[in-house]
Amino acid sequence: MEEEFSNHSDNQTFEEVLNGYMSRRQLIVGGVAGAALMFMGGSKVSALDAKPASGAALAKRAKIGFTSIPLQSSAMPTIAPEYEYSVLIPWREKLDGSGKSFDYAGFTADNQALSVGIGHDGMHYFGDNKKGILCINHEYGTTPHIMGKAVPTSLDEVKLSQAAHGVSVLMIENTKTGWKLAKSAKNRRIHGNTPMKFSGPAAKSDLLVNAAGNPVLGTLNNCANGYTPWGTYLTCEENFNGYFGTADTAWKANTEQARYGINAAGFGYDWHKFDARFDLANTSYANEINRFGWIVEIDPENPKSVPVKRTALGRVKHEGATFVEGKDGRAVVYMGDDERFDYVYKFVSKDSWKKMIAAGKSPLDEGTLYAAKYLDNGTGEWLELSPKNPLLAGWKMDYILVNTRMAADAVGATKMDRPEWIAASPKGELYVTLTNNTQRGTTGRAGVNSANPTAVNSSGHIIRWKDADKHVGKTFNWEIFVLAKDVADAGGQMFGSPDGIWVDPEGRVFVQTDGAQPGGNNDQLLVADPVTREFKRLFTGVKGCEVTGVTTTPDRKTMFVNLQHPGDGSAAVSNFPEFFVGASGPVPRDCTIVIKRINGGVIGS
Ligand code: FEO
Ligand code: CA
Ligand code: CA
Repeated sequence: MEEEFSNHSDNQTFEEVLNGYMSRRQLIVGGVAGAALMFMGGSKVSALDAKPASGAALAKRAKIGFTSIPLQSSAMPTIAPEYEYSVLIPWREKLDGSGKSFDYAGFTADNQALSVGIGHDGMHYFGDNKKGILCINHEYGTTPHIMGKAVPTSLDEVKLSQAAHGVSVLMIENTKTGWKLAKSAKNRRIHGNTPMKFSGPAAKSDLLVNAAGNPVLGTLNNCANGYTPWGTYLTCEENFNGYFGTADTAWKANTEQARYGINAAGFGYDWHKFDARFDLANTSYANEINRFGWIVEIDPENPKSVPVKRTALGRVKHEGATFVEGKDGRAVVYMGDDERFDYVYKFVSKDSWKKMIAAGKSPLDEGTLYAAKYLDNGTGEWLELSPKNPLLAGWKMDYILVNTRMAADAVGATKMDRPEWIAASPKGELYVTLTNNTQRGTTGRAGVNSANPTAVNSSGHIIRWKDADKHVGKTFNWEIFVLAKDVADAGGQMFGSPDGIWVDPEGRVFVQTDGAQPGGNNDQLLVADPVTREFKRLFTGVKGCEVTGVTTTPDRKTMFVNLQHPGDGSAAVSNFPEFFVGASGPVPRDCTIVIKRINGGVIGS
C-alpha cells in the first residue's frame, strides 16, 4: 500500500548531495555509476568488495537453472515449466483443520475470528520438511472485498473487517494430497481486537495511555515480518493511520500526527463512524493512534501468550523486521519505513541475545535504534536515535520512540524511495527494496540523492550494503544492486515496484513485486544472481494481485508465497482461486501458493 508523503524535513537536499556526488561520479565504484556499468556490459565491480567479480566467484555462485517465463496478464498464475504450484489456506478457511470454509454469504465477525484472515502478506514457517507452524500476516481487507459494499454501515461490519486483519498462526502439514491446514490447538487468530501489551523503554509512557484507561487492543496493517532465533514471530504494523478518522471539523492533526499522515479522512475505511476507538477527536481514546505503528512479537507455540509491542524498535510505518546475529551475539534488526521520503532503520541489542534471554530479558527491549544516512561516496552512517546524540539533546526517549520519524528527521537521515523489505545474504550483506517514488523530483528537498538517483522513480530499485563490525558498527558500504527500469528480458523491462525480498543460504536473491508491472502485466516472483545481477522470472500472479511473503521448509524444496487481493477484490477482474468463471462468479480469495520443483530440488535451482 502507499499514500502521500508526510516528510517535509530538509534532510539530504539535492544541493548537499549532488555537489559531492557529481564531482566524484567518475571515480566512485558502485553507487549508480557502478550499476550503470553493469547494464552496459561493463566490468563487474562492487562497492562492497571493490574488486571485479573473479572467475572463481562467478563459478562458485548457486545456479539458477529454471526456464524464465514471460510477463503475463493471465487470469491464472503461471510458473516456470520445471515447477508446479498449489493453493493453501485461502481467506475464510476454518481454523479447525476440517478443510472447510465459511460461506461468503452471511459471513460475520465471529466467523472471521475462527478462520484464516484476508490480505495475506509477510510470513514465516517454523517447522520441519513435513509439518510445522506457519505464521502469516493479514495486511488489509477493504470493505468492498470483505462484504461487497463500499463502506461499513454498522459496528458489526467494522468488527468483521478488524477480525480479518492481524495474524494467523497455523499448523500445516504435507499429506499425500499436498500441504494442508492441520487440526491443532496451536491454530490461532490474532486480530484488531486481540489483547496486547507494551514492553521496552516507552511501555509506561503517557503517550501510550488513553484518558479512560482503555486496554491495549489489536494489531493492524500487518505488512512484512521477521522472526527470531528464540522462536518468535515478528509482525510489523504499516499504514495504521488509514484506519483512524473523525467527522469533527474542529479536529486538527498536531505536528506529530501530521508527520505520520494522520488526517480526518483516513483512507476512507470509515471505522471511526461506528467504533469510537478510531475517532481521532474522541478524548477517551486520545492516544489510541500512538498504540499502532509498532513491531509486535508473537510466541507461536503458546496459543495463550499475549502479543508484545516492542517499543525499543520505534514507531514508524513498519514494513519488516529482519533479524541477524551481530558481533558478540547481539540481536540486530533491520527495518524499513514504507512511505515516500522515509527512512531505513536498525536496532542493536545491548548484549548477547542468548545472555539476555537467559537473564529473563527480551533482547528487543534494551538496545540502540539508528536511522541510515547514505553518503554519495558509497559509504553510510548509522545515526543514533537517543538523547545521547547531540542533535537530540533534551529529547525524551519515550518521545523519540513514539515519534521516531521526527527524531530521524532531526539527525539528518536520508530520504528514501519507500523502503520495503530487507533481506540478509549468507555473506552478511543486506538488500533493501525501494519500491518506487513518483514524487521524487530533480531538485530541492524532494530531489534525487545518490541512494535514490531516479527522478519520478516509477519502477523502484534495490540497494545492497554491508555493515561494519559485524552489524553493530556505525558505518556501512553500499551500492545500488539494480535500478528496476534497467533490468530487461526478451519482453522488455522485466519488473517494477520490488517489495518482498529474500536471499537464500546459497545467495540467490528472490524478489517479489507489488505495483504496476511493465505493460500492465501481473505481479511476479523473480530470482536474481547476486554476482551477475541477471534476473529470471519464476512465477506470475493473477490480475490485480500482489505477490508477497516468502518462506520455505528447511530443505528449501517447498516454498510458500502469497497472492494478496487477487482481482483487487473484484470477481470481475479475477476470482482466483475459485477459478475464473466470469464477472458473476464468487469473490476472489487471498491465499498462499505452495511452490515445488516437479522433480524435487531446491527452489530457485
Ligand atoms: Fe505493505 Fe509497504 O507494503
Ligand atoms: Ca507494497
Ligand atoms: Ca510490502
